[in-house]
Amino acid sequence: MPGPPQQKVVTAMLQQITGNFHFVERGWLSANHFVYNGRRRMLIDTGYQTHLGQTLDLIRQTGLDPRSVDLIVSTHGHCDHVGGNRFIQELSGCEIAMHAIDRRFIEARDDYHTWWSYYDQQADFFPVHRSLADGENIDLDDLTLEVLHVPGHAAGQIALYCPKFRFLIAADALWQGDFGVLTPAVDGPAAPLLQQSTLDRLAALPLAVIYPGHGPVIRDSRLAIDRCRRRIERFLAEPAAMARDQVKKIILYALLMKEGCHEADFFPYLMTTPWYPQTVDLFFPQRYRELYDDVMAELVRRNLVIRSGQRLAAALRA
Ligand SMILES: [Fe+2]
Repeated sequence: MPGPPQQKVVTAMLQQITGNFHFVERGWLSANHFVYNGRRRMLIDTGYQTHLGQTLDLIRQTGLDPRSVDLIVSTHGHCDHVGGNRFIQELSGCEIAMHAIDRRFIEARDDYHTWWSYYDQQADFFPVHRSLADGENIDLDDLTLEVLHVPGHAAGQIALYCPKFRFLIAADALWQGDFGVLTPAVDGPAAPLLQQSTLDRLAALPLAVIYPGHGPVIRDSRLAIDRCRRRIERFLAEPAAMARDQVKKIILYALLMKEGCHEADFFPYLMTTPWYPQTVDLFFPQRYRELYDDVMAELVRRNLVIRSGQRLAAALRA
């Protein structure tokens, strides 16, 4: 009789932000987490659903028992940030807090504006107990986090700024020289303009350290923000470049979700999704196969996708 499925080992890195506050760097399928283990025990973002086992292990490694979480803060409602919400809420009885816009999507069971159905992603709805508004403070034992509404990548996305230690938990508003994919077809044509305003706002903060939603800690915040600003300026000037970036990022994400795919099945799969034909038609009318071949050749050339035998796999940490 076969045993239980082997849990895949997913590498992650733990770092202390302050005495009670830990940064858990994940990969690209699961977003980074933050664990605060003081009088109040708080978790920020909970990864992708299929990684729940690793997520719970990593929380325990920071010294926090997932059963004793008091509060989950979700930076936004995308699948790679809320995958553990339902399970951990049921396990601990904790409250879940997020911005009122993404809260609305979750409470309305709207899996289109959370992107889950649009991009064919796995996630579960969960209860939300509190809304977090721009300018509100989350008071912890030795520090305060200020809520910043940072729309663009998601309408209800928040970042958290700590004035005392000058660090920013940036979610997908800001990574090292890049930011989370923009989806104007779902979030509206203002999405890139909102992302630009978000970057302007973050650039005005006296930042010492940025903890992004994906990728490693950013110590040169000026360089990272300048690169992002140049990128959004290019996307505003050339929307087709933004659409191509979207296709590349979501193809990589789909390969991570599927843990690779038989090459012959992947293009037909993309054509069954809501997002792929629609995105192609907006900027490259009906050139579905041509754009796919072109983007895939670039991803393979840049070693972001590995082609081995008949299979394609993303070469990114999951
Ligand atoms: Fe996101």
